[in-house]
Amino acid sequence: MHSDTASHGKPTRRDFVKSSTAAAVAAAAASSLVIPRSVHAAESNTLKVGLIGCGGRGGGAAVNALHADANAKIVALGDMFKDRLETKLGELKNSEVGDRVQVADEHKYSGWDAYKGVIDVCDVVLLATPPHFRPMHVKAVIEAGKHCFCEKPVAVDAPGVRSVMETAALAKTKNVSLVSGLCYRYDDVKREVIDDVHNGVAGEIRLLQHNYLTGGLWMNPRQKEWSDMEWQLRNWLYFYWLSGDHIVEQHIHSIDKMMWVMKDEPFAKVIATGGRVQRTSPEYGNIYDHFNTCFEWESGVRGLTCCRQFVQCATDVSDYVYTAKGVVDVMNHKITMGENVKKRKPSKVNMYDAEHVALFKSIRDAKPINNGDYMCKSTLAAIAARMSAYSGKSITWDEALNSKESYTPAQYAFGPLPVGPIVIPGVAPTAATAAKTHE
Ligand SMILES: NC(=O)c1ccc[n+]([C@@H]2O[C@H](COP(=O)([O-])OP(=O)(O)OC[C@H]3O[C@@H](n4cnc5c(N)ncnc54)[C@H](O)[C@@H]3O)[C@@H](O)[C@H]2O)c1
Repeated sequence: MHSDTASHGKPTRRDFVKSSTAAAVAAAAASSLVIPRSVHAAESNTLKVGLIGCGGRGGGAAVNALHADANAKIVALGDMFKDRLETKLGELKNSEVGDRVQVADEHKYSGWDAYKGVIDVCDVVLLATPPHFRPMHVKAVIEAGKHCFCEKPVAVDAPGVRSVMETAALAKTKNVSLVSGLCYRYDDVKREVIDDVHNGVAGEIRLLQHNYLTGGLWMNPRQKEWSDMEWQLRNWLYFYWLSGDHIVEQHIHSIDKMMWVMKDEPFAKVIATGGRVQRTSPEYGNIYDHFNTCFEWESGVRGLTCCRQFVQCATDVSDYVYTAKGVVDVMNHKITMGENVKKRKPSKVNMYDAEHVALFKSIRDAKPINNGDYMCKSTLAAIAARMSAYSGKSITWDEALNSKESYTPAQYAFGPLPVGPIVIPGVAPTAATAAKTHE
């Protein structure tokens, strides 16, 4: 259990609050960093970087890492599937940082244990698999004493979040960095805007509203030779045991910004609705395609969030904070108070590079960053909202934090794996019975 948890065993909102300051300090420290362009360190200063999960984001993270530190090299790749690994290796070698992608054949790892091989031979490990595997992988990285870049979300269920809380505490004792892929927190200008909100520039917070309305995403049609497990892994977005549903997998960006504005203070309760109206056929697994949520804090402040993945419909990714004096448009860096409008220009360094600049600088300076607190809280908030939408019940922070619903399958092996039921709130099955399918 996380070192901050209450002595009687069950973590509470208050325990979580205690550890939030360090993460804020670490995030703030990264704000003034620029990408080093003239590092000519000796070969012994090389940081060996490995990537686990060779997909779209993993490839991006590998390039961001090489942008961030001129003396870093990608030396190992791991993926469940060899074909995915080889495709990504080819892309990385052909990229503008390809000369520093030096992966020997013996450092290409595939299968269920791919992560172990990568961790063994690297100093810094980038985690970009489907979220289900994150708690297991981040634990292995930190236990091995390696630095970690950890994509969002950090888990798909509460037991996973609790595991990452423990791992984040361990990272502190091992003096290794644990940097989160909740990228907006590393956007300099968004940080200035949120600092203004925290400093009361716009007055007291009254209401928050966050949209993540996007289009459809990729889907890999099932091939005859694929087992149930392989089909689900290759379409992980659409299975809640792998992705946590899109409210956890994607909408976490909005929920994270909401939590950030609220200084990562755990909310009192959340009530959410959701369903599946466009993506109803079996190839889209068992997740919903839209959610609406209402988070509520003890102070009475409410955060309303909305997400959907619909084709041929309007898209909108926006975050608004309504305050006593006006309105803050976070995505457009704009604070409006009557006639008074303050609008900032976008950040010069893109946030994906910035999070790696912070990571590598922390390693070079031996000043570890630990984003464990907020990455766990934001993941838990998204999971709590999904629990509410699936169960039809209002869910408190402590109920979510202490939930035993586990999305871990009976075994990690290729072969038969029935698809968990599509949840119908209030009717059947409840979240618990849906989760049981994978116990
Ligand atoms: N921060 C951001 O803005 C952002 C953007 C996109 C994705 N992401 C996150 O990054 C992660 C990956 O997303 P993606 O879009 O790159 O997905 P992807 O499907 O493109 O890549 C995932 C890769 O992981 C591999 N994989 C699956 N299980 C594995 C295992 N147990 N061990 C090793 N490899 C495994 C898959 O074969 C695949 O190649 C997700 O958590 C996603 O939410 C973050």
